[in-house]
Amino acid sequence: MISIGILLFSDQKNSLSCSTSAADEIIKAAQARGHRASVLLARDLTFLDEQGKMTVSHDGKRLLKFDVIIVRPNFSESPDLYAYPSQMLSLCGYKVINKWPSYSSTKNKIDQHVVAYDQDIPRADWAVGFRSHGIMQAAKKLGYPLVAKVPRGSWGHGVFFADSPEVLRPIVDFLTSRYQSPVILERFIKEADRSDIRVFVVGGKVVGSMRRKAPQDDVRSNTSNGGRGYKVKITKEEETLSIRMAELYGLDIAGIDLLRSKKGPLVMEVNANPGFKELARVTKLDIAGAIIDYAVEVAKKK
Ligand SMILES: Nc1ncnc2c1ncn2[C@@H]1O[C@H](COP(=O)(O)OP(=O)(O)O)[C@@H](O)[C@H]1O
Ligand SMILES: [Mg+2]
Repeated sequence: MISIGILLFSDQKNSLSCSTSAADEIIKAAQARGHRASVLLARDLTFLDEQGKMTVSHDGKRLLKFDVIIVRPNFSESPDLYAYPSQMLSLCGYKVINKWPSYSSTKNKIDQHVVAYDQDIPRADWAVGFRSHGIMQAAKKLGYPLVAKVPRGSWGHGVFFADSPEVLRPIVDFLTSRYQSPVILERFIKEADRSDIRVFVVGGKVVGSMRRKAPQDDVRSNTSNGGRGYKVKITKEEETLSIRMAELYGLDIAGIDLLRSKKGPLVMEVNANPGFKELARVTKLDIAGAIIDYAVEVAKKK
């Protein structure tokens, strides 16, 4: 029997409930395989260093000896404040999957573009800037429609569709002046038909994939916005690209979002805390089971 911890970071209510249901599924899958699993909350962890001897407690009690800890980084703001729990657990000898810093750069959409640019990863044409004037100039070059994004966000919150400068400009003005935030622009990939491909990678293998389609009145396909999943068969190119992305970020568990464009698959986003409820519904695959099988493999490795 392997003992498994699932580390959750809750800062927002909807994030917690989403992650709790994923954690529940993972716990059930562990129990079905005869293992023990329980949830740890990052905010309940306390680390005490007495002359180099570290004591870790959780909710006032000494932390149990877990064989492996699955980190579900369910936060989008202030990732720098959430680094230490997984870093410290690794340093204290716990085997951690989805380690910091592998998930830190996935929390910033600008970082994702920077990494992709550096590594020549196929992406939609994009721009980033702090000043309204410069961003509007870049938008003119990219052409409409396009999508404006804030660096940190998930569930499609912070993603704005603009089909003209009249629509885009107030968004950019607001984000740059009110939030002092840089704004990312991306060419809107029309031919993807308001759909993307979610590829779920665990331990360097694709364990499931689906097409997600946005609801009628939206371009965002996030299931949290009413997007729905459909069966899909991914190409070898999509599979290879997804595995490469998980590897590039060093993620054990990753949700890679691709857009099917005229020029082939483009990487839209890499998620370090992918949900799998819709994916499991659509594919009838045991995604939680695949996560546990991998965690057990890691736990048993010398
Ligand atoms: N460049 C783009 N072209 C077409 N659709 C896009 C583009 N960028 C984002 N979208 C749509 O918006 C959704 C949310 O964007 P994403 O960058 O994944 O933000 P989030 O992190 O909030 O999920 C995507 O799932 C996709 O449906
Ligand atoms: Mg997304």
